[in-house]
Amino acid sequence: MLKQIKSDIYHLMHPKMAFFLTSISKDGKPNVMACAWATPVSEEPPIMVVCVSKESYTAELIKQTKEFAINIPTKNLLKPLMICGKTSGRNTDKFLKAKLKQIKSNSLKTPLIDGCIGYIECKLFKVVDAGECYAFLGNVVHASADNRFFKKNAWTEDSEIPLHLSGAKMVYFKE
Ligand SMILES: Cc1cc2nc3c(=O)[nH]c(=O)nc-3n(C[C@H](O)[C@H](O)[C@H](O)COP(=O)(O)O)c2cc1C
Repeated sequence: MLKQIKSDIYHLMHPKMAFFLTSISKDGKPNVMACAWATPVSEEPPIMVVCVSKESYTAELIKQTKEFAINIPTKNLLKPLMICGKTSGRNTDKFLKAKLKQIKSNSLKTPLIDGCIGYIECKLFKVVDAGECYAFLGNVVHASADNRFFKKNAWTEDSEIPLHLSGAKMVYFKE
C-alpha cells in the first residue's frame, strides 16, 4: 500500500553522496560546508549543479567569487563533514574547528580538502533561484580522483563514500 509523503519529500531521493563544498571570499578567505544536493547535469561539456541554502555563507561566497569545489570524502572524514554541516563559516573557521587541512586546487583560488578521494573544480556560469536554495551551475575546469578507489572510470565498492540518508544517517556501498 502506498502512503502519501507530505514532509521531507526530498528524502525519497536519498541516499545522496555527501561531500565537502569549498568556496572562497573576494579577500581570499576560504569556507567549507557539507553538501548532498548536487548532481552532474551535462556530460559534454561537463557541468555540475550544487544546491545551496540562500542563508548559508557558502551561497554568499559562491556569488562573490563565482567558483566552488566538490571534495568527495570517505568514512574517515565523517566527523569533520558533520561539523561542517552544522556550523556556519560566517562566525567560525571550520577548517580549524574540524581540523581540516587545505590543499591547493589546480584551477581555482578555492582550496581543496586534504584526504578526500575525488575533487571537482567548477567555475560558476549560472544561478537558478530555487525555493530556499540557489542552484549553482558550474563548468568543470578540473577533476581528479584517487586511483586506489576510482578504477575503470568508476568508484570501487570499497571506497566508503558517505551516502546521506537523513539527519545524521549515512549508508555505504556493500560488496
Ligand atoms: C550531510 C549533510 C548534507 C547537507 N547538504 C546540504 C545541501 O545539499 N545544501 C545545503 O544548503 N545545506 C546542506 N547541509 C547543511 C549545510 O552544510 C549547513 O547549513 C552549513 O552550516 C552551511 O555552512 P556555511 O554557512 O558556512 O555555508 C548539509 C548538512 C549535512 C550534515
